[in-house]
Amino acid sequence: MAIVETCSASAPAKVIITGEHWVVHGSAALAAAVGLRSRVKCMEARGPGITIKSLRLGSFTFTLGQDSCRGPHCGFYYAASRIVEVCGEAKPATCIVDSDIPIGAGLGSSASVAVSFSAAYLALCRGGKDLSLSDVSNAASGFEKFVHGNPSGIDTAVVLHGGFIVYRRGEGIIMRINESLADTDAVVLIVDTGIARSTKEAVAAFTQNLSRLGSFSKILVNLAEQITWEVVGSLKARDTKRLGSLLYLSHGLLSALGVSHEKLEEIVQAARAEGALGAKLTGAGMGGTALVLAAREHSHRLEKIYESKGFKVYKATLGVPGLQINCDVSGRAAMVEGT
Ligand code: PMV
Repeated sequence: MAIVETCSASAPAKVIITGEHWVVHGSAALAAAVGLRSRVKCMEARGPGITIKSLRLGSFTFTLGQDSCRGPHCGFYYAASRIVEVCGEAKPATCIVDSDIPIGAGLGSSASVAVSFSAAYLALCRGGKDLSLSDVSNAASGFEKFVHGNPSGIDTAVVLHGGFIVYRRGEGIIMRINESLADTDAVVLIVDTGIARSTKEAVAAFTQNLSRLGSFSKILVNLAEQITWEVVGSLKARDTKRLGSLLYLSHGLLSALGVSHEKLEEIVQAARAEGALGAKLTGAGMGGTALVLAAREHSHRLEKIYESKGFKVYKATLGVPGLQINCDVSGRAAMVEGT
């Protein structure tokens, strides 16, 4: 029998194109996988426990089966606990984590690492066979609950499946979209304020501000839902002008609900002043990143303007593939089942 000694997984970053925050309250939201990735490689170890080695998070070893977990490694702990429930044993392992995705920037860094780790450790435990995406998703949700408190699940879903998805809390992916912006006259810039913030706190602030509006909040959740479907329609029709206007509108609502930041406003205002098609904060807000939709011919100029203001700019490919897994079976690399 072939012995699986090493399994690696990689998962993309994500952007929410519209509907962040509103998705926590029941609205549909549109998200896309982005071409920055996290990678996790899990190797069988003599044990005991699971060791995580990460350039950004440091190194730590934990054993499962404790009553509760404290510390920065607990996302990995809760994901691994769920994996052990399906594969029946806590296989000792060393997992190396590596990521291109900025942390706390609204680009789904934690969801991406959660999915990569869950998939690599599950694949190792299962000997590279019978992998179910729903087991990966369940384990990654355990990780995300620890990091974010009460996530809608949109980040995990888009990072796992890739492409463009419309997502509703409680229902999961309700539509996949095949169109992309690749063959249009527009490009997306991801502009990073460099200000890290906590999704948990942003979600709490938005929820509190929304609840102050009482029953009127329902009308706004419905409006956010309609904006999502308008954005989907514009994307399908490749109508980048309408898409851009909807992004400005989506930003205005998020800003009114208190999750913008002066740096995000600076990015959106510069987009307006320079004639960009649209711009909005993406993800939890209060710092993190903004999306700017620019005509291809103007994008280089805009990029230089943002860089001169001290922002980091990523030119994003949207709609990239989701989770990918490889196991090394007795020295041979093999794509494993389930991906
Ligand atoms: O953690 P972020 O910045 O990717 O934001 C997640 C998106 C929210 O809608 C703000 C929260 C959620 O759980 O959907």
